[in-house]
Amino acid sequence: MADEPLVLGIETSCDETGVGIVRGHTLLADAVASSVDEHARYGGVVPEVASRAHLEAMVPTVERALKDAGVAASDLDGIAVTAGPGLAGALLVGVSAAKAYAYALGKPLYGVNHLASHICVDQLEHGALPEPTMALLVSGGHSSLLLSSDITSDVRPLGATIDDAAGEAFDKVARVLNLGFPGGPVIDRYAREGDPDAIAFPRGLTGPRDAPYDFSFSGLKTAVARWIEAKRSAGEEVPVADVAASFQEAVTDVLTRKAVRACRDEGVDHLMIGGGVAANSRLRAMARARCETAGITLRVPRPKLCTDNGAMVAALGAEMVARDRAPSDWDLSADSSLPVTEPHVPGVSHSGAHGHSHDHVHETSAENLYS
Ligand code: KG4
Ligand code: ZN
Repeated sequence: MADEPLVLGIETSCDETGVGIVRGHTLLADAVASSVDEHARYGGVVPEVASRAHLEAMVPTVERALKDAGVAASDLDGIAVTAGPGLAGALLVGVSAAKAYAYALGKPLYGVNHLASHICVDQLEHGALPEPTMALLVSGGHSSLLLSSDITSDVRPLGATIDDAAGEAFDKVARVLNLGFPGGPVIDRYAREGDPDAIAFPRGLTGPRDAPYDFSFSGLKTAVARWIEAKRSAGEEVPVADVAASFQEAVTDVLTRKAVRACRDEGVDHLMIGGGVAANSRLRAMARARCETAGITLRVPRPKLCTDNGAMVAALGAEMVARDRAPSDWDLSADSSLPVTEPHVPGVSHSGAHGHSHDHVHETSAENLYS
């Protein structure tokens, strides 16, 4: 509908420069420039390299998104940007660019939370989120079960990983197997040729006395590394596909089991899965089967909308506009450890009334970059 908010979203929390444009729940453009190849030889994202790449990619990616969407910048109703969590220097590039565009165009600025954006993006695929929404958020930095009654204002964590995030475990296991970075997609590929029951890897925190909604993947990662090491020191070949499939099975078994349990316990009849690991083919299939058995409706966006992108930021920004949330102040800062409980980031001058206890990363000024 033409009267729905037209919002451009900028995402630079890690190594993808994402610029998306949405109108309400409709995706109009999703332009992504990735610096992943520049990090591959280091085996992980190098923050300074990522920041520099964002700076170089920003203007061309914004221009490409506007062209793809067929809209003029002057038609936008707002500019949304990931204010955190993520790499401080990388976030700063996006926040500075968003301020510059918003200021120059005379548009409201909306600082939004990367994690809430991973949930809100599903509105582009499956329409308005049910309220409340149960979300399993699984990315390279986070693994949580979240209950949200309004994605712009209320996100309540039921549980989270106590050590590694799910995506981090994929990346670390891939490194031990010498499969390169990022590990998730390549493990997903190898696992298709392997036997998920070949090796019985541990399922962390699934005992009767363990926290029902928390996760732990560090023990699993160590178990996989030890198993591989034992094979190598015995001079035996490592069955890469079987290791990948068995490891992936352990991760997805725990994630889906706990997510379905949370839905049952909270009386929620649907489950949303978001974040980069939600692109995993086995996680999607297992969640589908288990949700069906439990009478739960599964909502999971197409893989390209699960990994980091600008459309998810635009989607949450559009929801902010639709719900009349106040725009952020010009002193909006990049907050590398922004808590998941703060979907909307109003700016530093509001943070006393609103804010959380840890220190903000006060990297506010566009002047730092543009002078
Ligand atoms: O959400 P995301 O793109 O960035 C963060 O916010 O962290 O998630 C990135 C993570 C990486 O750890 C990557 O290995 C993982 O998502 N990932 C996958 C797959 N695609 C990306 N993990 C498992 N299977 C996949 N197909
Ligand atoms: Zn992400």
